[in-house]
Amino acid sequence: MTLLARHKYTNQDWHDTEQRQLFSQTWQFVGLASDLKDEGDYITAQLGQFPILVIRLADGDIAAFHNICRHRGTTLLEGTGNTGKSIVCPYHRWTYVLDGRLKGVPDMKTCFPDLDRANLSLKPVSFGVFNGLIFVNPKPDSGFESFVAPLDDKSWPHDLSDNDIIEVPPLHYELKCNWKVFIENGIDGYHLAYLHEKTLGGPKVDENLWERHGDHAIWYATEDKDVRHALPAKNRKEAQSWRAKKLNSAAGHGYGGVYYLFPNTFITATPYTFSISVLKPTSSKTCDLIVRHFGKKGDTKDQRKHIPGYNKHTDTIRSEFWTKPALETGDFQTEDVWICEKIQAGLNSPAFEYGPLSIGPGAEDPIRWFHESLQKVMSD
Ligand code: FES
Ligand SMILES: [Fe+2]
Repeated sequence: MTLLARHKYTNQDWHDTEQRQLFSQTWQFVGLASDLKDEGDYITAQLGQFPILVIRLADGDIAAFHNICRHRGTTLLEGTGNTGKSIVCPYHRWTYVLDGRLKGVPDMKTCFPDLDRANLSLKPVSFGVFNGLIFVNPKPDSGFESFVAPLDDKSWPHDLSDNDIIEVPPLHYELKCNWKVFIENGIDGYHLAYLHEKTLGGPKVDENLWERHGDHAIWYATEDKDVRHALPAKNRKEAQSWRAKKLNSAAGHGYGGVYYLFPNTFITATPYTFSISVLKPTSSKTCDLIVRHFGKKGDTKDQRKHIPGYNKHTDTIRSEFWTKPALETGDFQTEDVWICEKIQAGLNSPAFEYGPLSIGPGAEDPIRWFHESLQKVMSD
């Protein structure tokens, strides 16, 4: 197989192609079922070309629609919130029931004497809920089962509805790299022992393992020959020395430490924490990384002000706000951000060409898998 060409990391036309061919028709994480507690609670998202909304109905079900009015197309809901018992378009106040049916049209008799309201419901999008996580695919009638089936019995055990788990405010990174650079770094086992020598302390290529599951992949620390762990040995020792408390639902072992879900989601699952990271391309050479983080109640606090590069005015994290070199921060995520931005700087050079990738599931094999999966979805 051939690796992705350089222009796919640098060219704005390719960014647009990805928005159409990839992000408009694959499954993406948008929020938790528990974010939608009450009737009318909603979340919105932009998935590729499509603004979408997900909403809690009166009967407790969830529904997901294109977030656009059937009259002249105004986007309906913004951000997250509660819309009450109906969705009202701010333009001419067409009103939809939460299940998407068009209920009210001002001046209907005068202005629309023949209006067929039944044909003007909000358009549905595909969605599914897995372990409490909501995924949406803008493409109608997409099979959610085929997205989650590869994870099968390998899934993480964390129960986010347990009352010993709390969520802290999310982290919002603004990265100066193509989103694929960050994914490739996240699934590269070869760099762990080197870039992260001081933070993760390995594992080496034969002491960690990515296992391929369809287009997804699951990572394990395999320093112990008999048991697969979610955390490298160095981090397990540190946690024990701090007497960190394990989450009730995740105290066992054998599950993966990182789940990469194609195309743009990482789940990080440890006995102590759980996080969901989503990469959102913002241009060919930039992306946002949103991290939702959960931990043990009592042990877990808002970490934002301790994150290198955090700016409290914008509530975002950027390398330009760093006050010391990345490798001196003791934060492995900062090390990753630093290296990804350096890779992008290299890709931006016309002199860039791939050297050989290392072989092995604890090395750079997963990058080959990622390119294969992308090439299946994207036509050149
Ligand atoms: S565009 Fe929504 S009511 Fe006119
Ligand atoms: Fe890394």
